[in-house]
This record gives sequence, structure tokens and C-alpha cells, in this order.
Amino acid sequence: MALMQQATQNTAQDATKRLVAAGLHGQSMSAPVVTSTQVWPAIDMPEVEWTPAVERETAPIYERLKTIIPSIEWPFHAPYIHAINRIKKQRNAVILAHNYQAPEIFHGVADVVGDSLQLARLATKAEGDVIVQCGVHFMAETSKLLNPHRTVLIPDSRAGCSLASSITGADIRLLKQRYPGVPVVTYVNSTADVKAETDICCTSSNAVQVVESLGTDRVIFLPDEYLGKYVQSLTKVKLILWKGHCEVHERFTGEELRAYREADPSVQIIAHPECPPDVLAEADFTGSTAHMIDWVKSRRPAKVVMVTECSMASNVAAEVPDVEFIKPCNLCPHMKMITLPNILHSLVHMTEEVLIDPAIAERARLPIERMINLNA
Ligand code: 13P
Ligand code: SF4
Repeated sequence: MALMQQATQNTAQDATKRLVAAGLHGQSMSAPVVTSTQVWPAIDMPEVEWTPAVERETAPIYERLKTIIPSIEWPFHAPYIHAINRIKKQRNAVILAHNYQAPEIFHGVADVVGDSLQLARLATKAEGDVIVQCGVHFMAETSKLLNPHRTVLIPDSRAGCSLASSITGADIRLLKQRYPGVPVVTYVNSTADVKAETDICCTSSNAVQVVESLGTDRVIFLPDEYLGKYVQSLTKVKLILWKGHCEVHERFTGEELRAYREADPSVQIIAHPECPPDVLAEADFTGSTAHMIDWVKSRRPAKVVMVTECSMASNVAAEVPDVEFIKPCNLCPHMKMITLPNILHSLVHMTEEVLIDPAIAERARLPIERMINLNA
């Protein structure tokens, strides 16, 4: 314990020396913040108040959101958006947000938005000293694996994923013993520990291409059983599946979608491949979150049901006011753990830093890089 206290004291003293050298010491009453990669100047938590200046400066953002966020709610969001966008610049941070983030985050503070594949690709090109991942923990880990020398933060590290927690590295080692020589394809919705046992990763955007790129007649495909069944319907490669499910998409039913169609036969139904097979059987189009967004933007259906996490329909609706969205509202409780207040807290205090055991990180990075290099 004494040793640990000494180590922390030394790090803080080193931090202060580096700040003095950089001419930054003494700018704030608070102590500098230390992460694994750098020492950061202290920034005091700003006032988050609805003032005429905040109203004026956030007006262009509200213009984009006015059809989906009631005006009575805006004074609660705007002061946070204003403060986050200011401190983001001070920290030289980039905010990556998944398509399932709430509209005030997606349209208000994100620099880069997208599906898991787009976010992974863009994480390799991210500029800035800090990446703040507004998404779930496996997405933040992916960013860290691709940016080992940058500070990667997630505003709430408890933001998990039922798919990622459905399988462990030990499970994969057992599967490899049972099916020797059969390559392992793992959905990016998995922990670094699991990726470390994987040959190549995939996302819902590129799963078929990744499976077929291996040139084998069998593949172990983990952990999403329903995505696996969907991929199986599109390829001759035999997939060995695991019984992991997304707790949001498994709740949709084919019956519910038939009811939408009976109520209005003109409605278009588009679904994410994490849905069960009876749901996908009712869909006019199946694709990743980015592919669903592209489909709506290019087809402009009069009425659409987006069978996926509920916030995404709001995010797209803000951009295509001519399309009517029917929203079966299943929210991802993990994605919703990321909020404007905890993003602000994260930037001010440089928390929660994503750290990965270097021995695991070295092996977990490879399957993601193989996927990205495949350009699938
Ligand atoms: P996408 O890769 O399609 O964005 O999906 C990620 C996810 O978590 C879906 O539930
Ligand atoms: Fe995981 Fe499902 Fe949430 Fe996506 S929607 S992060 S797969 S639990």
C-alpha cells in the first residue's frame, strides 16, 4: 500500500513538473489530470446554465433537432452541448458516436457518427489527442486497440453489450479444440479477450465478405446466433454458431411486424440482422445500421418501420422530415448509459480511461486490422 501511495505521489509530482515546463501550471485551482499516456491541464467544471449566449450559440444545432426534441427540453440539453463543444476543443478531443446514441449527442456533440465498421475505420484516422467513445464498451476497446498511443475515454464504462458478455476467451479456446483448424470469425461486439482468440473480426456490414474471404468450407462464427443464421442464408460456407443474442433485437417478433403491415400495406419494413429469423422474414430490407440509414435516405419511403434500436429512427428523422417513422421503441440500456452530463464529466476529468492488458491488446488488434485491411 505504501509503495502504491509513493508511486501515485511520484506520478503527480512528475505531472506538475511537466505542466510547469509546458507553461500550463497554475492555470486552474484544480490538480492536473494524469492518464496512462499523458498529463493534462486541469479544467474546472463549467457552469451549465441556460443563458441568452447559450441559446444563441446552440440555435443552429437546435434548428436540425427541432422536429425531434421538444422546445421545452432544449434548455436542459443546450448548456451541456455548449460546454462539451468548448472543452472538446481545449482537450483536442474527437467524439465518436454510434448511430444508437440519443439525438442530442448524435447531432449535438459528435464529430464522427456511424455503424461499428465506420467507427472502427474512422478510429484509425482520428485526429486529436483524445477519443471520447459515445457507444458501448467494446466500441471503446476497438478504438483503443487501433489507437494505443492516444487516450481513449468512455463516459460510463458499465455500458456493456449482451452479445459481448455471452462468450469468453476460454469458450473460444474450447471451441478451437473441438474444431481444430477451423478459422474463427468474431463479431466486433465482443471483448478484447475474445478478439485475442480470433482470426478475423466482422461487423453486420461485412460479415458475408469476411466469412468468404477465408476460403474454407467451414467457419466458427461468434457470438451472434441470429446474425450467423442470416449470414448462413447468404453463403455456402458452413457456419458453426454460438447462442449469443442481442437483448434489444431479440425482443422483436414477426407477428408484431405483420400487424404493422396489416394496418398499412404500403409500409416498408427494414431490419437489423441481429433480429431473429422470423423478423427478418418480414423485412423488405436487412442491413447494418449504416446500410439501413442509406436505404432510407436514398429510397425515401413514405412510411418506414426501422426494426432496430429506437434512437436511430429519431437521428435519421431529423435529416429526412418527409419520411414518417413508425417506431417500435426498443432502447439499448447500455447505449443509453452515455449522457451529455457524463460526456462533460469525462472531458473535464479525463475519465473513464479505456485500458487493455498489452499482451491481450497485441493479439486482439490483429483480427480488427485484418478486417479493416480486407476493405469489406
Ligand atoms: P452496427 O454495426 O450495425 O452499427 O450494429 C452494432 C450494434 O451494436 C447493433 O446492435
Ligand atoms: Fe449490444 Fe444489442 Fe445494445 Fe447493440 S443494441 S450494443 S448488440 S445490446
